Amino acid sequence: MPGAMSDPLQVSTIHCQPYRDQRPGTAGLRKKVEVFRQPHYLETFVEAILRTIAPPPGATLIVGGDGRYLNEHGIELITRMAAAHGIGKVVTGIGGLLSTPAASLLIRRQRAAGGLLLTASHNPGGPSGDFGIKFNTPSGGQAPASLSEAIFATACEIHDYRLASLPPLDLHRPGRQRFGSFTLEVIDGPAVYAELMESLFDFERMAAWLRDGHRLRFDALHAVTGPYAEEIFCRRLGAPRESLLHAEPLPDFGGFHPDPNPVDAAHLIALANDAAAPDLIAASDGDGDRNMILGPGMLVHPCDSVAVMLANAQQLPGYRDGFPGVARSMPTSRALDAVARELGLPCYETPTGWRYFCNLLDAGLIGLCGEESFGTGAAHTREKDGLWAVLFWLNLLAATGRSIPDIMRRHWQRFGRHYYQRHDYHVDDAGRAEALVAELRARLPALAGQDCAGSRVTLAEDFCYRDPVDGSESAQQGIRVFFADDSRIVYRLSGTGTSGATLRVYLERHEPAAGRHDAEAGEQLAAVAKRARLLGRIEHFTGLAEPSARI
Ligand code: G1P
Ligand code: ZN
Repeated sequence: MPGAMSDPLQVSTIHCQPYRDQRPGTAGLRKKVEVFRQPHYLETFVEAILRTIAPPPGATLIVGGDGRYLNEHGIELITRMAAAHGIGKVVTGIGGLLSTPAASLLIRRQRAAGGLLLTASHNPGGPSGDFGIKFNTPSGGQAPASLSEAIFATACEIHDYRLASLPPLDLHRPGRQRFGSFTLEVIDGPAVYAELMESLFDFERMAAWLRDGHRLRFDALHAVTGPYAEEIFCRRLGAPRESLLHAEPLPDFGGFHPDPNPVDAAHLIALANDAAAPDLIAASDGDGDRNMILGPGMLVHPCDSVAVMLANAQQLPGYRDGFPGVARSMPTSRALDAVARELGLPCYETPTGWRYFCNLLDAGLIGLCGEESFGTGAAHTREKDGLWAVLFWLNLLAATGRSIPDIMRRHWQRFGRHYYQRHDYHVDDAGRAEALVAELRARLPALAGQDCAGSRVTLAEDFCYRDPVDGSESAQQGIRVFFADDSRIVYRLSGTGTSGATLRVYLERHEPAAGRHDAEAGEQLAAVAKRARLLGRIEHFTGLAEPSARI
């Protein structure tokens, strides 16, 4: 297209009708692909984001996704809309692929006006799966609730959007493509990300550990982390190619449910229980922010993982000076608190969702945080980071020379073990799950002091969080009930589903340092699970006598 490059951009205005169901959930707007395929649906939401954030002319925007169905289409569309809104540069990864932590990192590095991330995280992909989009602020973190609400309000009023006409974009060619005053830059995401990891971890030591014959298996579940894992584990650490499983990103994730947890990645549990299990087995989710860590015969529960990280951080080059403080989401077990207490560090308790950690990280109050839902992260980015967590464990194994089961047993001997499990109840009729929570909430004032299936309730409340940095309050963040036998039950509704409702019931019981630590969590929590069913009248409301999943 000779001459077109220096021409002013041609922008057209396209009329549409507002959709009124574009309220973002725990982590952005997630819907079935078929919902996103309605006329102008994605356009409306993107327009709402761009109008709400009103970026200064010439600003940079990071745009990338986890490779799921509609990814490239979405990136091309957002690029055209961004150009029409006066954005000077859109930066994306090769093929439009950027893991969520890499995108967060790039937003910070490039001093961007923010990032648009196309992902539905661990939800299934493909034409019959889910699609999603979320906005991350210039700090690299997810939009706070107030901004999400403002975007939603704007979306309800969108009657037209702007689109620049650009020649065909080549998302697979690294480098800059200039169109008048607008630039599209395609970068090598894995290389940028790997460089940062090299500054945090001891790559020589990890490479030596692998050379010594230790074995690693990383499963990318055909999602975004495949090329990152290849760059880091194979190219930079010299791991053999067979260390990677399902490394090619596919629009339907090869049919996998890309959620690294014992139910959806049961094949990794089987691998860990095999007599010839590798020393470290790990996986990440669709967009690369979750992690799963396993060793011979053992899954490291994410609640324990973050506690072990805190207890051992000084063995790793990037964390020799320790952390100013740590944080966990409220339903996450109190294993982290036990270590923080011993180290004399503050341990913050936040609502579910990574965005609540961001203010604490920005203010330098914490340097490590985690959620029970297989999310762990630190201050290098403002999203949880799957491969970072895998490297943390790999470095720990290499630095200590110990096995995962050995590290875990020593940890429990020292701090006791917090047996932990989450029970999910999926119901088609969201109203039933909402009614359960409403009834429990109404009963809260009368619960304390009551006896419930063998133990006395010491405290029962609806968790309300006051952000220590900006003073904002988030109410109704989960009902938590504490018992005299040092157990705890938390009830909340999922905010990431795309149909029906999921009641999440979190169960926890502490077994002290001198106690029995080698038992199975489900067995150790059977009495607490029964108590949770009775207290919440779960069968009455949901019709389910058993959870749909135990994680
Ligand atoms: C789930 C997890 C939560 C996590 C979020 C995004 O949200 O429980 O910890 O931050 O996914 O990955 P939920 O569906 O429970 O609202
Ligand atoms: Zn994710």
